[in-house]
Amino acid sequence: MVATTATALLAFAVVALALPQQHAFDADLANSPPSYIQETGGIDRYDGHEVWRINWSSLSNTSRSALHNVLETAGDVWKATPEVIDVHLPPRVAAVLPSLIPKDAQATKIVPDLQALVNLSLAHPVPGLPGAYAPQSPLADPPTDFPDGGWNVSTLDTVFHDAFQPLPAIDRFLDALVNEYPETLHTFEFGQSAEGRPLRAFSAHRADGKADAPEVLIISGQHAREWVGPASAIYFLHALLVNLRENPKGTAAKVLREFTVTVVPTLNPDGLVYSREHSRMWRKNRQDVGGLICKGVDLNTNWGYEYKPSRLACSESYSGQHPFEAPETAAMANYIVNGAKDAPRNRMPRAFIDLHSYGQLFMFPYSFSCNVFPPDAENLMEAGMGVAKAIRLIGGPGYQTGQACQSTLRFSGDASDYAYAVGQIRWSYSAELRDTGTYGFMLPPFLIRPTGIDVVAGLSALALFIYDTEIEP
Ligand SMILES: *[C@@H]1O[C@H](CO)[C@@H](O)[C@H](O)[C@H]1NC(C)=O
Ligand SMILES: *[C@@H]1O[C@H](CO)[C@@H](O)[C@H](O)[C@H]1NC(C)=O
Ligand SMILES: *[C@@H]1O[C@H](CO)[C@@H](O)[C@H](O)[C@H]1NC(C)=O
Ligand SMILES: *[C@@H]1O[C@H](CO)[C@@H](O)[C@H](O)[C@H]1NC(C)=O
Ligand SMILES: [Zn+2]
Repeated sequence: MVATTATALLAFAVVALALPQQHAFDADLANSPPSYIQETGGIDRYDGHEVWRINWSSLSNTSRSALHNVLETAGDVWKATPEVIDVHLPPRVAAVLPSLIPKDAQATKIVPDLQALVNLSLAHPVPGLPGAYAPQSPLADPPTDFPDGGWNVSTLDTVFHDAFQPLPAIDRFLDALVNEYPETLHTFEFGQSAEGRPLRAFSAHRADGKADAPEVLIISGQHAREWVGPASAIYFLHALLVNLRENPKGTAAKVLREFTVTVVPTLNPDGLVYSREHSRMWRKNRQDVGGLICKGVDLNTNWGYEYKPSRLACSESYSGQHPFEAPETAAMANYIVNGAKDAPRNRMPRAFIDLHSYGQLFMFPYSFSCNVFPPDAENLMEAGMGVAKAIRLIGGPGYQTGQACQSTLRFSGDASDYAYAVGQIRWSYSAELRDTGTYGFMLPPFLIRPTGIDVVAGLSALALFIYDTEIEP
């Protein structure tokens, strides 16, 4: 576990962020779009951009918050923990990095050319050559199993899971799943995105399962660039259905008998489209926030629990001016509390998991502060360790569990904090999926299946833990 002083330092850094100070870089940058990105043909390019990891564990409060400010202004902070901060920098800034960081912090380059990873994240498998991938334009349609553009959804071997798919393909695949498993799976809409796209949910439960089964709600894609969230949420849903059919006495069959599993694979469809077609590093939604230049609310700072408005519309963590300003968070929260027209709510979900990347963490509330400890912390920790163990047992990588505020630099207005405190969903988590920084957000497509398999193992274990603890103790 992480020392509490370190956590306090991080909290300090967050506060400092809200009050921009003068430093080596012009603070006005904070209110303009990231000028370091070159556009080519309407698509942002990251040629020669680097990602650096800075070990700041020995820095004082003050130097940490100052460094965070500098990096946030000069580049794009990917992740910060009490030990390290990962930051994406344009070549001009990367060249002067040593002059920006204090002597007692060690900096390591973890990505030498971000464009190479962006290209890799868009690659498609080469038909007929197992394991081979070829670079592709973001606008090209990934391969399908059938000439008519469909996939064989009765098998997990479908090529769908071999590439990151554009939104229309995701929708077609999910519709095909509903067609193939009509007894078990149904879909409904619970709202619309800022640009008017439907917000879709997919609920799986055995026709012969327990009536009034408690709901496990899984959401992903709040942050547009974290592509492996939606990809592995869809893999998880698909795996439950295929495994139920192939093994009527297996784990999936038990989970779908005792629970209704509802998956919202793409809570930020506008951002997902934008991150593919224009800007691979896009994180927020695409709503007009009244600024002249910058668009978008960071969905995972916009939930209505311990919410804090922010001033910098161009910031990647812009939380808006009021809670649930984003139609996506408003609709999701409304579903949590009231259900939807086609799926009215008579009681709250039993579990809530918000999938992000990266870092390999499975975290429980609270995110906004370490000073408030959830009454269920001990149980949440035990179940979280069970999730990590289940992933390890199937040969997956190490995941760490703990309280969100201690594990990463996170913010107020977090989804799992809301689900726990307001939704009163006892088993609320946020997960950071693969990896630990080699590829970061740019996870290559050959890691979709392994990450999906982590999610299947981990979330099945969580459901069974809840069953053993609360339902049939
Ligand atoms: C860092 O700041 C926090 C409060 O912001 C304080 O509690 C802590 O003692 C400080 N740590 C150091 C090493 O100065
Ligand atoms: C960061 O540095 C500290 C002390 O210098 C060291 O103990 C720790 O292992 C380093 N952490 C990482 C992730 O490199
Ligand atoms: C990435 O792809 C673009 C266009 O497909 C190409 O021009 C560029 O050279 C590639 N960059 C790297 C580093 O592979
Ligand atoms: C789909 O995959 C299954 C399992 O591999 C196979 O048995 C079936 O023939 C495939 N269906 C089609 C239409 O190719
Ligand atoms: Zn995220």
